[in-house]
Amino acid sequence: MSGNPRKILVTSALPYANGPIHIGHLVEYIQTDIWVRFQKMQGHTCHYVCADDAHGTPIMLRARQEGITPEALIERVSAEHRADFRDFLVDFDHYHSTHSEENRRLAGLIYRRLRDGGHIHSRTITQAYDPVEEMFLPDRFIKGECPKCGAADQYGDNCEACGASYSPNELRHPRSAVSGAEPVMRESEHYFFKLGDFEPMLREWTRAGHLQPEVAHKLDEWFAAGLQEWDISRDAPYFGFEIPDHPGKYFYVWLDAPIGYMASFEALCKRTPGLEFDDYWGPRSTAELYHFIGKDIIYFHALFWPAMLHGAGFRTPTAVFAHGFLTVDGQKMSKSRGTFIKARTWLDHLDAEYLRYYFAAKLGPGVDDIDLNLEDFVARVNADLVNKVVNIASRCAGFIGKRFDGMLAPALSDPALFVDCVQAGESIARDYEHREYSRALREVMALADRANQYIDQQKPWVLAKQEGREAELQGVCSLGLNLFRLLIGYLRPVLPATAARAEAFLRIPPLTWDDLPEPLLDHRIAPFEPLLQRVDGQRVEALLAASKEDLASAETPAPQGWLAREPIAEGIDFADFSKVDLRVARIVAARRVEGADKLLRLTLDLGGETRNVFAGIKSAYAPEELEGRLTVMVANLAPRKMRFGVSEGMVLACGPGGEALYLLSPDAGAEPGMRIR
Ligand code: 2FM
Ligand code: ZN
Repeated sequence: MSGNPRKILVTSALPYANGPIHIGHLVEYIQTDIWVRFQKMQGHTCHYVCADDAHGTPIMLRARQEGITPEALIERVSAEHRADFRDFLVDFDHYHSTHSEENRRLAGLIYRRLRDGGHIHSRTITQAYDPVEEMFLPDRFIKGECPKCGAADQYGDNCEACGASYSPNELRHPRSAVSGAEPVMRESEHYFFKLGDFEPMLREWTRAGHLQPEVAHKLDEWFAAGLQEWDISRDAPYFGFEIPDHPGKYFYVWLDAPIGYMASFEALCKRTPGLEFDDYWGPRSTAELYHFIGKDIIYFHALFWPAMLHGAGFRTPTAVFAHGFLTVDGQKMSKSRGTFIKARTWLDHLDAEYLRYYFAAKLGPGVDDIDLNLEDFVARVNADLVNKVVNIASRCAGFIGKRFDGMLAPALSDPALFVDCVQAGESIARDYEHREYSRALREVMALADRANQYIDQQKPWVLAKQEGREAELQGVCSLGLNLFRLLIGYLRPVLPATAARAEAFLRIPPLTWDDLPEPLLDHRIAPFEPLLQRVDGQRVEALLAASKEDLASAETPAPQGWLAREPIAEGIDFADFSKVDLRVARIVAARRVEGADKLLRLTLDLGGETRNVFAGIKSAYAPEELEGRLTVMVANLAPRKMRFGVSEGMVLACGPGGEALYLLSPDAGAEPGMRIR
């Protein structure tokens, strides 16, 4: 054990249950997972919990658009999230939901304790209300013209055209994005958490080393601006927990979201004998509690959350670790450039560990944004992992296998080199502990360079050809493999799957930090098998192409009603229109496309000519119900190469997407091949 065993609880922010995990999210989960794996390798007791953030208006409306219950939506999304995390090797000890009994109980408990402590008060506020949908509208669900620049179709809180911030009642010609109705102002009683009651406690807490220096500095600005009371209630209809003593009022999603950390841990305690909730959350807890978050949610975690915990008699976090955002090739992730990459799309094309390594190589302890430069990504993963680290094993393993029946030498040929590399483990461990991953990996790669230099100097391929130098050959290759083992140990938090393959090759149990100084001598290893493939630049190209395609078909469907009535496109003249050759087509076959969430492959008869067309209508139609049916297609669209084949045209459908999609068909009497005019 390196020092005393610690008891540690770690969380990552809870992803919303209405959308897929993308590589921007993964910065945080990978950063946290590496830290947790490192702590476990150190022999500490470390629990890593997370959950889906399942409540709120966007989730309620999304479910409504899809024609399903919120419960069905959050269950489906949770399964997708879990699969994405599993395949990115993000190894939670428990993954829960904020829509759980544990969370309902804990949210109620915390609320009652805050209320009984006098920290909740109510007052009437006036808010925008949709008279058609009979609901209050969050700012994001009000659209209108920007009061500053006049741009149309801007959200209720800020303008994407000119960047102005304003309040929704300043918008010109406001409309509810849910129904299209003009919002009216209406009064309602709301409940507020009096954050100001905790100002002395928060001033002390935020300066006591629980936050990164740049974050603590930001907090000073917020203190200077004054701590406002926080509205923790929302009116029905709302998907969330009803406030215990106020029927028809619900906890705002951000009230019960962080409590989800506790709920997830409570669920873990229920299934883990000997694990006690109070040891980690009780006021006298001696365990460490860490929250990894993005810099956009610092206010919630560095002010509201410690105040809520303190006010309700729980312990406060040991530290909150904020990270920056992800850019791709120096720019914000973009749907049109294909750099808005879903976790699943990445996995369809590239190994999860490539991204884990690249992010780790870029990550430091601060809140700076990190950039995924795709060219650098390919070069770096290949240079570091394949050419440096794995290369050490492949240079040595063959000789040991063929010439020594897999046996490693009984002694180290250059003990000083081995000891040097063991000693480097101390500063590498320090770097992991302080989230200096980039520095840790630079050090590991410097050791890999030394191992390769040693092999270059000793030239085992020359020794192998000389008589009487067997012992030297075995010694050199055995030291090479022992250095490889150390490097794998150091990389294990980042590359758990590669490490597991290396451990199988070395025939050793999972490495711990304490195992590392003890070399493998007189030990039989398994035959060498490739441990990691090179990254192929073409796979990156395919990933970008697939991401463009994904997002074309997976655009969030707009709410029914007003947003479905898109503005009419700019006018074209008749000559332009007549270039489009629209034909009646018969669907002679419809098939699901393996690996595609949205697409059906249609075989269309155009009255003699057959076309193959991919259509994003799988969520709306079963293939069987389409066969034999007439529809309308664009027959002269240039063939498009898609991920699953070439699409030779396009069928016409309308609707906002999802299951609300309607294929056009002509009246009876029309025949395949007829032109639409
Ligand atoms: O910003 C978000 O994506 C939130 N769902 C994070 C919640 S973290 C915690 F407080 F629950
Ligand atoms: Zn504007």
